[in-house]
Amino acid sequence: MKLIFATNNKNKLKEIQDVLGPDFQLFSLDDIGYQSEIPENHKTLEGNATEKSRCIYLKYKIDTFADDTGLEIDVLNGEPGVFSARYAGKEKNSNANMDKVLKKLHGVRNRSAQFRTVISFIYRGKEILFEGIVKGNILERKHGNSGFGYDPIFQPYGFKKTFAEMSLEEKNRISHRAKAIKKLVHYLVQIQLKSVMHKN
Ligand code: IMP
Repeated sequence: MKLIFATNNKNKLKEIQDVLGPDFQLFSLDDIGYQSEIPENHKTLEGNATEKSRCIYLKYKIDTFADDTGLEIDVLNGEPGVFSARYAGKEKNSNANMDKVLKKLHGVRNRSAQFRTVISFIYRGKEILFEGIVKGNILERKHGNSGFGYDPIFQPYGFKKTFAEMSLEEKNRISHRAKAIKKLVHYLVQIQLKSVMHKN
């Protein structure tokens, strides 16, 4: 089965291709020669993910999925949320983003937050959403050097280290993205099973 993943992030592409195996052929935006920037100007993760998948599906008519992720901090009413990448400015600087969060939470006791990934999948023109969430706390300072984005200040519940102190394998076992991907993969496997049963 051919699928487009509306991303140019090679790590995300590999992560999903590894889980799907050879029966599914994944194509990135680079692979299909899509050069333009898809605007992410919606107010929700769902809106942005759906915009990306719909835009590519309408052009290529191949089943397409796209993702969007945000860090949602309870006491900040879900900020930075959909603005996570550019919270401190359009340079999309992770250190500046984390500093802004730490400043806003200075002296605040309630530090609960969640990472939320939304995947929008357009299958034969039908839109389906999958969600993955990991809950935790924002620490008072940065810990660890691995990962990216807000990893050094996010400590998932049940762990004594931040995402940035975990190995990639460890993070991928529990992450928001992994949870959303698992749901998508489950759905894809069901589609594949149905088509095999249909043929026999
Ligand atoms: P994207 O939708 O995957 O591009 O994520 C948007 C932004 O959310 C990123 O630029 C990061 O700032 C943040 N983010 C997404 N996933 C993670 C993660 O796993 N760890 C830390 N930050 C993340």
